[in-house]
Amino acid sequence: MTLATIILVMITLLALFWVLPVTGKTRKKKYITPSDEPGPYVFPAGFLWGTATAAQQIESAQKTDWTAFEKKVYKEKKFSSRGPGEAEPGHIHEWGSYKAAVRRDKTGFDKLYTKDLKAAASLDNNTFRFSICWARLFPTEKTEKPDPAGLAYYRKILNACDKNGLIPSVTLFHFSSPEWFFKEKDGKRGWERDDALEHFERFVRAVVKAFGKRVEHWCTLNEPMVYVFNGYLEGIFPPNEKRSSPAEVVDVVKTLLKAHALAYRIIHENAEKNNLKAEVGLTKHTRAFEPYRNTHLLDRVTAAIVEKNFIYDFIDAINTGVFRFSATKITEEIPEIKGTWDYIGINYYGRFYIQSNLLKPADFKLHMHDEKSSTERVNDLNWALYPHGFYEVLTEFDRRYGKPVYILENGTADKEDDDLTRQHFLVTHLREVYLAVKAGVDIRGYYHWALFDNFEWAEGFTARFGLYSVDYKNNFERRPRLSAALYREIAGANAISEEIWQNHS
Ligand code: BGC
Repeated sequence: MTLATIILVMITLLALFWVLPVTGKTRKKKYITPSDEPGPYVFPAGFLWGTATAAQQIESAQKTDWTAFEKKVYKEKKFSSRGPGEAEPGHIHEWGSYKAAVRRDKTGFDKLYTKDLKAAASLDNNTFRFSICWARLFPTEKTEKPDPAGLAYYRKILNACDKNGLIPSVTLFHFSSPEWFFKEKDGKRGWERDDALEHFERFVRAVVKAFGKRVEHWCTLNEPMVYVFNGYLEGIFPPNEKRSSPAEVVDVVKTLLKAHALAYRIIHENAEKNNLKAEVGLTKHTRAFEPYRNTHLLDRVTAAIVEKNFIYDFIDAINTGVFRFSATKITEEIPEIKGTWDYIGINYYGRFYIQSNLLKPADFKLHMHDEKSSTERVNDLNWALYPHGFYEVLTEFDRRYGKPVYILENGTADKEDDDLTRQHFLVTHLREVYLAVKAGVDIRGYYHWALFDNFEWAEGFTARFGLYSVDYKNNFERRPRLSAALYREIAGANAISEEIWQNHS
């Protein structure tokens, strides 16, 4: 080795060590955010306490893309033999083990909603999040006016919210769309059809006309990048495609950005015209993305790129009106989307590890937990629990956007009645919320995912996220898990007492 080579190697190493901490993500050792402050951890006055659900996951089957997929899976017996949390394209876990009536009615919410909303209110909650099924209002492409039975159904849900003192938080798109929307038109389907926005606009106008006077809290889109990632790149959600790179989903993402902005304008125009209050935003799935191998520069850099692409690109576009899609060359101005948000919704579930592939950087491997660790806490889906990551996300969103925040989902899969993991999850994550508020983040509410067990997409009924369990073999009977009483105690006191903290942290 010549002197020049040695110097070059040294300079490269120094440069790498200097660059490492600033370019990529590093692994954090902290599990919770350190703080000496003892409880009680008191939340701001007027804080909203709620639970969240989504139409396709709890309501009886409508003519949606998901319903069509569920039927196909059953017919083709694609019940997946993979482990929990390892969804297989085109499959639904254990879908063959449930009776037709259960596969159709999901949780029986259509009939049990009165009791369910009473149960939600009994948790000392003051709000409830649900979504409106587009296909229930527009079952066919030719339907011009929203289906009266569909409108009547959601009117009943809103009445039950009112009766139980629950402020409704309404989501317009939570992963499922009408089946007809995915019929090919001029060689295009779904969000890529030329008339996609026209159809979405018709739906939104119908919802706003019917319920605009009764709903103040609106979420336009639930987790658009989860939808795009799972539906178009991983093949585990309809339309079950496996495109080969982010560049191939750009049109879908752009249309979703425009759909969001369109809904934002329609709701605000209606509010202004009728002198109503409206708060409109969207919610993002967030995770702590960290390198699988902390010493591996490419893992660190890939984790940062994945984080940017998955969490921030979409909302950066809304913030600035310029859409830049990481890992692609795309930069495009979309002026009409700029500033179309009153708040940002955050959904948080834990930590994922990213393992890069030197030869194919876009083909990274995602680990739901660190298999090499014997101490990491995981849930029933093998997802790593990581409360501190929640604090980091909340403060990072505040640093970037300075917007009011609603936590529209946070929860975990734990099927036990004596659900120790969920109780621990609830308390540790709520303390992170408290600490983030204390650090100055304007957090206005928390919705636990979910009120009761429900249809967990590609996991079918196997993953149980409910504060209440659902007995699928016994007329959908609900039973509170221990976490339900714990959540009631916290919401009722608007605080985590020191005793609760000591018992569950
Ligand atoms: C989704 C929910 C889902 C939850 C748990 C979120 O990504 O919005 O629909 O049930 O995660 O997996």
